Amino acid sequence: MISKDIHSAEDARQFAMRRLPRMVFDYIDGAAGNEAGAVRNRSALDAVTLTPRILKDVSTRSLSKDLFGTKAHLPFGIAPMGMCNLSAPGADLMLARLAARHKVPLGVSTVASTPMEEMIEAAEGNAWFQLYFSGDGEGTFRLVDRAKHAGYQTLILTVDVPEVGRRPRELRHGFKMPFKIGPRQFLDFAFHPRWSLGTLMAGRPDLANFQLEGFEFDRTESRAKATWDTLSELRERWQGKLVVKGVLDVQDAARLKEAGVDAVQVSNHGARQFVCTPSPIEVVPKFRDALGAHYPIFFDSGVRSGDDVLRALVSGANFVFVGRILQFAIAANGEAGLLQMWKVLEDELSIAMAMVGLSQLPNCGRGID
Ligand SMILES: Cc1cc2nc3c(=O)[nH]c(=O)nc-3n(C[C@H](O)[C@H](O)[C@H](O)COP(=O)(O)O)c2cc1C
Repeated sequence: MISKDIHSAEDARQFAMRRLPRMVFDYIDGAAGNEAGAVRNRSALDAVTLTPRILKDVSTRSLSKDLFGTKAHLPFGIAPMGMCNLSAPGADLMLARLAARHKVPLGVSTVASTPMEEMIEAAEGNAWFQLYFSGDGEGTFRLVDRAKHAGYQTLILTVDVPEVGRRPRELRHGFKMPFKIGPRQFLDFAFHPRWSLGTLMAGRPDLANFQLEGFEFDRTESRAKATWDTLSELRERWQGKLVVKGVLDVQDAARLKEAGVDAVQVSNHGARQFVCTPSPIEVVPKFRDALGAHYPIFFDSGVRSGDDVLRALVSGANFVFVGRILQFAIAANGEAGLLQMWKVLEDELSIAMAMVGLSQLPNCGRGID
């Protein structure tokens, strides 16, 4: 394939499905339970209609967005994702370079496959560190200090993983990090030689932020001990911007705002955590009403096009994050695939803006003026 063959997120997904071992594809693509949450995410986004407006001069359109006092070239960034180098060697750094090029935030996962220091450098500062609170919190606060030292100015605390969700597709393959290669995985890898050779030559991806001495980590370690007191402690210790990700309840959101959190991210983790959640896009307007016109609300989960980005912005989000489809694009055709996917998103968004008569993106508040 050539990257120009990617005309939509689904194209990238289809190419990724062929290229990746089934275990890796299912890890990225899978969702919790019977995956009805992923279906709900999609149908709720599809249900948001945008009415075309006519005879407005939309010949020049700006896609940039103010974000924490800086100008992002686009209103969407890169959601934090663990173990991205499973999609292809060097995937993490491809995402970092993309963030640098477009001045958009790259979420650097606690469980990234590249050390946080390298990521922020490659992203030329356009990186936010994503934190999981786990165990008794001691290691967590050491990671916070390390992020500060590495120059991070924004921290994303992900709160929707009190336990890692049950994803049958992952469990069926015996997916574990760092992964073990038994007979079943061996066969799967043998049928995908391009991926397997590339990955073997580059070295098996690992949890890079835990390879320093004293950073023991268990992906399944309980994250269930975090409380509002933990949040207060973090707020006190972290002077930079603090985003809390994985919020779906309006009262929780209001309490976060009161607690001095700088932004909430409406998300159900791409339906990976809990099959029963409401779809985040339905929650966004309620958050906007409850939190007021000026409080930053971010959105992710299920974004598959620039049209989806506009749907979220018009529903009341200030900024949108994109997840899996970027990994699919990388799996499909490396950095060229990623750049092509990004351009598709940008074009889709720009055209959608023209259709609804917008030359600027909606700023805060809901609807199209
Ligand atoms: C493979 C994979 C790994 C992820 N790892 C993390 C993570 O380490 N931390 C986190 O906060 N969210 C993680 N997420 C969730 C994303 O940040 C985001 O919420 C989700 O991917 C958005 O949905 P989408 O993939 O449908 O765009 C992960 C998602 C995927 C697909």
